[in-house]
Amino acid sequence: MIFLNGQFMPIEKASISVLDRGFIFGDGVYEVIPVYSRRPFRLDKHLHRLQHSLDGIRLRNPYTSEQWSDLIGQVVDKNAGDDQSIYLHITRGVAKRDHPFPDVPPTVFMMSNPLLPPQPELLEKGVAAITASDNRWIRCDIKSISLLPNVLLRQIAVDAGAAETILIRDGFLTEGSASNIFVVKDQVLLAPPKSHLMLPGITYDVLLELVAENHVIHEVREISEDELFSAEEIMLTSSTREIMAVTRLNEQPVGTGSPGAIFRQLHQFYQQYKA
Ligand code: PDD
Repeated sequence: MIFLNGQFMPIEKASISVLDRGFIFGDGVYEVIPVYSRRPFRLDKHLHRLQHSLDGIRLRNPYTSEQWSDLIGQVVDKNAGDDQSIYLHITRGVAKRDHPFPDVPPTVFMMSNPLLPPQPELLEKGVAAITASDNRWIRCDIKSISLLPNVLLRQIAVDAGAAETILIRDGFLTEGSASNIFVVKDQVLLAPPKSHLMLPGITYDVLLELVAENHVIHEVREISEDELFSAEEIMLTSSTREIMAVTRLNEQPVGTGSPGAIFRQLHQFYQQYKA
């Protein structure tokens, strides 16, 4: 069952106008919220980031946090599976095609997909990534539904048989096409600082909290392209992929070419934390 504009219905029954500004302009924002054991994970943080995205595009939040929490709970209840991924999407609504903001209600859509843990083989071996120049706009902190650059960047990885494209802007690491990136250099875990050039990942925050609690040596600072290429370990995080080791970069092994000790530790912390 999906949620569309105040109603629950099977996805086959759901339809929106071709004049929806999400369709016409990509004028909207979204969230992806993992659900473990039927409980939305870090819901308050996702709703806080949603508010930041809505503020960023000057769209009024149609619901209070309590209302969101209730509606998301209903989506979870109406769908099978203890672990789910809730996709939440708000656009500026349906109006005659014209650039200025119309005075119409927003379109609000939510659906649930099964949330599958990363395959054991991928945890064992890690994944391949490639690098590309980050050619997106400079409000990457907004979780915009206008994902054409991310889609094009991800496809370069797929075409190369890799799992993710790691983005470089002006010689520094920003993030992945749909993930945040961490690097281990000289046994120190490095994370790029939040800015308008990357999405403030909820999983990124969880990881930084876990390393602080567990006294893993880490630093939040700019990471140069050279440091990325000479890293001992690279890992990616996202709500749907959790934490994964990147063991090949541009067809070269990262470190030993196998998931490293820091990745294994962090993966374990994450599994314990989400349980
Ligand atoms: N994407 N950076 C980008 C560009 C992303 O699209 C995502 C997540 C992240 C990680 O954020 P979080 O840890 O909050 O999931 C970073 C989602 C999963 C998606 O678009 O499907």
